[in-house]
Amino acid sequence: MKRSLIPLLCCPACRRSLILTGATEDAGGEVTSGELECAGCARRYPIVRAVPRFVPSEGYAAPFGYQWNLFGREQVDRVNGTRISERRLLRETRLPRQWWPGKRVLDVGCGAGRFLDVVARLGAEVVGVDASSSVDAAYALLGRDDGVHIVQADIFALPFVSETFDACYAIGVIQHTPDPPGSVVGLRDVMRRGGHLALTCYERKTYTAFSPMFLLRRALRSLSPRAKLRLIRWSLPVLFPLAEVLFRIPGAGRAFRFLLPVADPVDLPELSVRQRYSWALLDTFDVLAPTYVLPQTESELRSALERAGFANAKRSRSPGLNITAVRP
Ligand SMILES: C[S@@+](CC[C@H](N)C(=O)[O-])C[C@H]1O[C@@H](n2cnc3c(N)ncnc32)[C@H](O)[C@@H]1O
Repeated sequence: MKRSLIPLLCCPACRRSLILTGATEDAGGEVTSGELECAGCARRYPIVRAVPRFVPSEGYAAPFGYQWNLFGREQVDRVNGTRISERRLLRETRLPRQWWPGKRVLDVGCGAGRFLDVVARLGAEVVGVDASSSVDAAYALLGRDDGVHIVQADIFALPFVSETFDACYAIGVIQHTPDPPGSVVGLRDVMRRGGHLALTCYERKTYTAFSPMFLLRRALRSLSPRAKLRLIRWSLPVLFPLAEVLFRIPGAGRAFRFLLPVADPVDLPELSVRQRYSWALLDTFDVLAPTYVLPQTESELRSALERAGFANAKRSRSPGLNITAVRP
């Protein structure tokens, strides 16, 4: 953790400032352990493996910690040699490349940091927040880089001073919380006036509840993340080659994507077959393993944003439900 993060932080319980105590630092000036003590209510938040921790890793998001610590690098552009994450971030935030330099941005539900990596390279200061131990994977990837901060915290109790961020995005996150509409409420306060918000979440359609992937997820609910992963590993040698052929059939491909319980990114031709196989493993686990999967309709998300005090909500044509809005 960099000392420059401290002025941006506050106690998530009483909103007063935090004081660093008992810090140890490494040669690069990163605070690797210590505590952040609230100047108001005296609550203490530990810094463990260089990441300030406002929530424990054992909460409902724990399967994501397991996932991202196993597959932290696959989707990172600078590791896989593509620009897939950059393209997706620019499209889903609707912010052009020239907007980012010098801005301060919050990535909520950052996972292993695929978008943090893009934002840092675009020249913004970025804070990645996640409720799970995925923060360890994100820190290992880029926590020491200039302008990057990693924090383990909850979207429902963000530990940031009001009006800190020029923009905030949460890609693939809110449907995995127990209350997607409620999860956007706290984002407003930490954003500056005129600040830009981008959310992407699963869209609920009339047939969503009957999708084999969703039914399978229910059937496997009692299995541990480890057992689910083993099952996916066993089934992939059969499902992946099928998906590679069936998903590409003009017209019928859409139906097969709905029917086959595998997430093969056939529409990303820049990935090699080997890369697609490991993305399929990761993305299938990402759908089957979470504690909560609560897709939203466009009107539910629009109303949630309006109730939370955001304006100018616009839907983009990206796959999934992608909406941007502004804090007035
Ligand atoms: C599907 S992953 C998306 C990760 C990343 N945005 C990406 O697209 O690669 C969802 C992430 O949201 C995080 N998450 C779920 N509930 C959260 C909460 N209440 N507060 C913060 N993060 C949360 C999970 O731990 C997980 O890493």
